[in-house]
Amino acid sequence: MSSTEAALQAPPLRVFFDAIAFRYDFLNNLLSFRLDELWRKKSAAIVLRNSAASSILDLGIGTGKFIRVFMEAKKWKRLAGIDFSFPMLHAAKKILPSGVGFLRADFQSLPFRKGSFDLVISAFALRSVRQMPLFLQGVWEVLSEKGKAAFLCLTRPENIFWRIFYFPYLKFYLPVVGGLVSGNFQAYRFLSDSILSFQEPEKTASMMRETGFQSVKIHRFSFGIATLIVGEK
Ligand SMILES: C[S@@+](CC[C@H](N)C(=O)[O-])C[C@H]1O[C@@H](n2cnc3c(N)ncnc32)[C@H](O)[C@@H]1O
Repeated sequence: MSSTEAALQAPPLRVFFDAIAFRYDFLNNLLSFRLDELWRKKSAAIVLRNSAASSILDLGIGTGKFIRVFMEAKKWKRLAGIDFSFPMLHAAKKILPSGVGFLRADFQSLPFRKGSFDLVISAFALRSVRQMPLFLQGVWEVLSEKGKAAFLCLTRPENIFWRIFYFPYLKFYLPVVGGLVSGNFQAYRFLSDSILSFQEPEKTASMMRETGFQSVKIHRFSFGIATLIVGEK
């Protein structure tokens, strides 16, 4: 089957996320050996250093774990989270305190007025973006003057030694364990393939600069298997 035929036959991405939502947190912890929690905390500490932001938007809020770290760190005047998966939003509503506005929508076309948020965050969701320049433009527009965007991504280690260990994990452990526990092999095959093929952080950083973001910085965690990219408007 050609890759075009395979793409046409694949269910929409949202269906994958709907299917794994009920085991998502458990599997995240299992597959990352709980490192995902550490990366979210480290990211929030970096992003909130010297920050006066009072409004925050989480793109691909999932079960709410990323925005929750930001909520624990300080008080916000306005909070919102977008996700196109209803079961993910349902899970987020259960764990997050009141005050968060939830929206079921595609984050590639943001339904907010220009300058609505001081901070836009997203964790492990950028791999789903189909047209990165358009997506970044949308983020730029909803940010207020001097606003900040912070993207936490699953990436590949730079060092050849760590790559040798990481590739069998991505190719075999992640899809097999994820598939067995969630019962959805296709979803975890997608997650693993998308980490293998996603653009390097330098590329994302350079696209952010092209959009107009300034002081774009890359922070690598755990030998580069996760990366935070931060830029200012
Ligand atoms: C890998 S999960 C990450 C969830 C959460 N940010 C976290 O820290 O665990 C990606 C989330 O993004 C959502 N998502 C992916 N593409 C999306 C899109 N185009 N529009 C809205 N939500 C999307 C999925 O439904 C899923 O909940």
